[in-house]
Amino acid sequence: MVIFGAAGDLTKRLVVPALYNLACAKLLPESFAITGVDLADLSDDAWHQSLAGMTQQFVKSGEQDGQLNQDVWNWLVSRMSYLRGDLNDPATYENLKSKLSDLDNQRGTGANYLFYLAVADRFFGSVVEHLGQSQLGCEKDQHWRRVVIEKPFGHDLSSAQALNKQILAVIAETQVYRIDHFLGKETVQNIMMFRFANGLFEPVWNRDRIDHVQITVAETVGVERRGGFYEKTGALRDMVPNHVFQLVAMTAMEAPNSFSADAVRSEKAKAIEAIHICSPEEVNCTTVRGQYGPGEIGGQPVQGYREEPDVSPDSQVETYAALKLSIENWRWSGVPFYIRTGKRLSQRKTQIAIKFKETPAALLRNTQVQSPAPNWLLLRIQPNEGIALEFGAKVPGPTMRLGDVRMDFKYQDYFGTAPETGYETLIYDVMIGDATLFQRADNIEAGWRVVQPIIDTWNSKIPEAFPNYKAGTQGPDCANELLARDQHTWRPIE
Ligand code: BG6
Repeated sequence: MVIFGAAGDLTKRLVVPALYNLACAKLLPESFAITGVDLADLSDDAWHQSLAGMTQQFVKSGEQDGQLNQDVWNWLVSRMSYLRGDLNDPATYENLKSKLSDLDNQRGTGANYLFYLAVADRFFGSVVEHLGQSQLGCEKDQHWRRVVIEKPFGHDLSSAQALNKQILAVIAETQVYRIDHFLGKETVQNIMMFRFANGLFEPVWNRDRIDHVQITVAETVGVERRGGFYEKTGALRDMVPNHVFQLVAMTAMEAPNSFSADAVRSEKAKAIEAIHICSPEEVNCTTVRGQYGPGEIGGQPVQGYREEPDVSPDSQVETYAALKLSIENWRWSGVPFYIRTGKRLSQRKTQIAIKFKETPAALLRNTQVQSPAPNWLLLRIQPNEGIALEFGAKVPGPTMRLGDVRMDFKYQDYFGTAPETGYETLIYDVMIGDATLFQRADNIEAGWRVVQPIIDTWNSKIPEAFPNYKAGTQGPDCANELLARDQHTWRPIE
């Protein structure tokens, strides 16, 4: 495994702790070796030390005994060496090539290479080109070469298309693993199992029985030290065509013919391709955006977005976006999918809430039940991972009254929790060549195609009266108006 960006944050926070977890689970082969490449001048030892702290911290955050297993850590670092190099310099790839061939010679055999691009997106295309020019990306003698590409994949439709073109001119689609870390979350993977491995839900999973769907990805964090990145990105680009659309696709897709990577990814692509592409007029009435001002989170005062480091004091960048999507296919015609995502909201909560159609009220007309409560199915992605079903039950007593009750499954109760970064499955899947949880070129472009007219229309509009929601609240009022127009209300973020 070659990690480009070996001294960076992503490597420290996620990639190496995930490799440590894989090593603990004995899922790395004995002949495994890692070469870290970065510009920083580091010895092997200094590199290892810079990684140990974060892995230690990560292990402590879990619910097990919180101790780094020193034997496993030693096993891992004894396989990790560092190579200093500039990613834009062809010499770096020549040096890498000779380092890898030394490793192969020591082993006496060729090897598979996994190239992990834990680098800023501006490097994605050029690193892949260098891998091509140096022949490092060429598969040979039945040994594979796979390239993992992080997010963001493109900044809009045309840049995503250009990046796909640049990459696919050098390596084949089967060698590319575009990461969306939401797909590493167990609860996201479970959506497919829940729908297709249980006989109960699929027959009601359509426009006949479902009234509408609400998908919420709410965060309490602000932009932290990423003001510079966020000013060029905003909530829509940062979250919607990737993470939120993965949740939409998992919820809306048809059953694939099998769980093979291409069968699943084709169905997901079809679901996203069925989303109506809005005209500018439609964008105005089906989308809203917001930006947080100062407020309070967990009883602590927090500053507004415009006061964050590296953010312009009159920034027009949105930290909240809500959209009404129409999926124009046989299953979902007429069933709105409302999605919202934002920073500095009242709670951290990612949830898919499905509202079922109500019963005919006639039967209850001479009772005290005014209107029976609708049934909601709640897929809690994070935190408190689980699934709940809300329905009405008769309140005990001589009169006919209805109370709202809930059946609640919590992952923790059945399966416990292990400290996981979410990257374990993804890295393991790359090694075994299972691309199910990775985005194919068409999946990525389908997402951008829906979002592009929203970006264009928002950019062409007069400035918004930002900030329009207080940090620590449920988001801007205009998001409530979006649903009120359809006589719906958001479920509270709590
Ligand atoms: C990242 C976004 O892709 O996902 C961040 O760039 C966001 O802005 C993060 O905070 C959310 O991921 P998670 O796993 O914390 O829900």
